[in-house]
Amino acid sequence: MPAKRSQTARSKASELVLVLHGPNLNLLGKREPGVYGATTLRQIDAQLRRLASELNVDIETFQSNSEGEIIDRIHAAAGRVGAIVINPGAYTHTSVAIRDALLAVRLPVIEAHLSNTHKRESFRRRSLITDIAVGQVMGFGAQSYLLALRAAVDLLAPRRG
Ligand code: DQA
Repeated sequence: MPAKRSQTARSKASELVLVLHGPNLNLLGKREPGVYGATTLRQIDAQLRRLASELNVDIETFQSNSEGEIIDRIHAAAGRVGAIVINPGAYTHTSVAIRDALLAVRLPVIEAHLSNTHKRESFRRRSLITDIAVGQVMGFGAQSYLLALRAAVDLLAPRRG
């Protein structure tokens, strides 16, 4: 078993995954639990940190209800982060600006959603992110994030040696 690296040590880009949560995801656990499940965002982040530690990568997690803050965080990832896992929430369906920011930093992106958006209202079927992402995981509740993190770590594996 490889030694676990400190979460505070400065990571190489190939060892750091940024996980972004978009608007209203701070309400997970209380928000439409029939659609999004009972797990809170804090619990999801804790599960992600545990998995990251098992997979021997570092992660940063960030949630914002503000499009601009999400974009700033994407910009700040350039050159520092190996891959981005993003659940843009409702911005998935509307934000050209988040799409453009992801294109600008040229990092591999994995799109994650708790719900299967194709089983819901028709306006949720369109994503402005999917065609610029390496792939998409949806419909597995909190597990979608964990699967997306595994996929991100697999993508980084050749660069980590
Ligand atoms: C979501 C799906 C979006 O349509 C919705 O606006 C969300 C959450 C999901 O994770 O299933 O906020 O991204």
